[in-house]
Amino acid sequence: MRTSTIHSYDVLIVGGGLTGLRAALRVSDAGLKGAVISKVHPLRSHSVAAQGGMNASLGNVLGEDGRHDSWESHAYDTVKGSDYLADQDAVARMCRQAPAAVIELEHMGMVWSRLEDGKIAQRPFGGAGFPRTCYAADRTGHNALHTLYQQVLDRKIPIYEEFFVLSLVNHDGRCGGCTALEIMTGEVHGFAAKAVLMATGGFGRIFSRSTNALINTGDGQALALRGGAPLKDMEFVQFHPTTLFGTNILITEGARGEGGILLNRKGERFMERYAPTSIDLAPRDVVARAIVQEFEEGRGFDGGYVHLDLHHLGEDRIRERLPGIRQIAIDFAGVDPVTDPIPVQPGQHYSMGGIDVDIDGATPVKGLYAAGECACISVHGANRLGGNSLLETVVFGRLVAGTIVKDMPSLPEPDIEPVQSAMEEADARIGQILEQEGGTPLITVMDALKETMFESFGIFRDVRSMQAGLAEIKKMQEKVSQISPGFKERAVNPALIRYLELEGMLLLAEVVARGALAREESRGSHTRTDHPDRDDSRFLKHTLASIREGMIEISYQPVRLGMFEPKERVY
Ligand code: FUM
Repeated sequence: MRTSTIHSYDVLIVGGGLTGLRAALRVSDAGLKGAVISKVHPLRSHSVAAQGGMNASLGNVLGEDGRHDSWESHAYDTVKGSDYLADQDAVARMCRQAPAAVIELEHMGMVWSRLEDGKIAQRPFGGAGFPRTCYAADRTGHNALHTLYQQVLDRKIPIYEEFFVLSLVNHDGRCGGCTALEIMTGEVHGFAAKAVLMATGGFGRIFSRSTNALINTGDGQALALRGGAPLKDMEFVQFHPTTLFGTNILITEGARGEGGILLNRKGERFMERYAPTSIDLAPRDVVARAIVQEFEEGRGFDGGYVHLDLHHLGEDRIRERLPGIRQIAIDFAGVDPVTDPIPVQPGQHYSMGGIDVDIDGATPVKGLYAAGECACISVHGANRLGGNSLLETVVFGRLVAGTIVKDMPSLPEPDIEPVQSAMEEADARIGQILEQEGGTPLITVMDALKETMFESFGIFRDVRSMQAGLAEIKKMQEKVSQISPGFKERAVNPALIRYLELEGMLLLAEVVARGALAREESRGSHTRTDHPDRDDSRFLKHTLASIREGMIEISYQPVRLGMFEPKERVY
């Protein structure tokens, strides 16, 4: 057996992105023994790729008519943007905490872009009533992640990097740790802990045409589901309107926030027809649908793209505010936005759904918590506003770690025995996978899954195509046990990691499919051509997916309303 030592901690944080690192700081500051486990080096976490910014009602830039922003306006925009599916107490909590979260990062040393008066700069973003998005040019995630990482290093918090978590250890009705494969050596490690916090990010890579890093395969959601925690609202998947045609690299909404405009093949500013007030800065679900409609009505460019025109901003402003976007356009599309429009198309970008948690970040499984994109707390409901994701990471990374600190005295000491058994089981499973022979190449199945998801569960959905998609997913699930990862070594075996990811991706794909089929309405990012209207009488509720006797079972949970009554969304 290739198992190694058992490590023991108060708190294990799975995921080294912004949520995980912010949580680790809170745990360490409370004097608890915590550690971070991540399948990549923390600075390679997908948070590093976030471009446009972080929302907070600082009010450094006034709105129309000289009005000052407020957390209530931020909350209203977020709830309206969510198509009223967000839980309003969680939204209020996030929006109230936002200004302090931005200032806290500044105090930790984060470099933000500045206004002439020295205050943190803010730009308009989609669906927002005020210029509310604080930014660091178009590299906000990069600056934030490096800032938190330095703080984590300073506190000497242990990081198990390039460790792939294989299973959560459940015993006596609670989560007491996990097992993980050390990628470099192929050894299985055990981690015993009083509490485990999942902070593993999204599952965007179950779709083709995604802005997500290749690592965003939803491992945390799959682990939690298998470990007894339901997943919530998984059918709500965000498609960002502007990803680079061909590669789907993100072209930040900040480009439109700075004044960029979308044009169709006829040179028309088509968003004027779909969102007469917000135009190019309508929320993402609205803009993504409009672009696809332009394609379908023959006003897109051949191959499926429209133009994002920035040239009128001028070279100086593009260099200062959008330097990364300019370079991406030059390097990957051969166009310089200073003179030429950027070809863009919608692409998968974000997962609104995730591990079901209460407002404090606790799952129904004692000892198991979740925060950030892998969780559904739910602040984004059916559609997230740009700039609210980075905010969620730092606000709830800190708050949910705070819940764990508070719960610590009631959580039992870590138990080594169940961890030892789980390690043996995980080790045997790895051996069995490596012995598998023949079948379709792993990557063929993975690519087929991504295409199926994009085609059947993309921006527009209908029952026939979704049923066909689900049937394909079921066939792929059957095939996966006959696939050989292709390379039989345990140490440094990326094919083995892809295989383990694929198993989880197929599970999540089924959850998305079943939730989407059951939700017979259109709301936010979930647009059904066969049920085009929002139906609050039947579906103003969260979808929950659990595993019962080996099958996915769908149930529902009420939405927590509050300050804002559901209304028709007009932009
Ligand atoms: O467009 C962007 O920069 C993305 C921001 C976000 O998803 O919050």
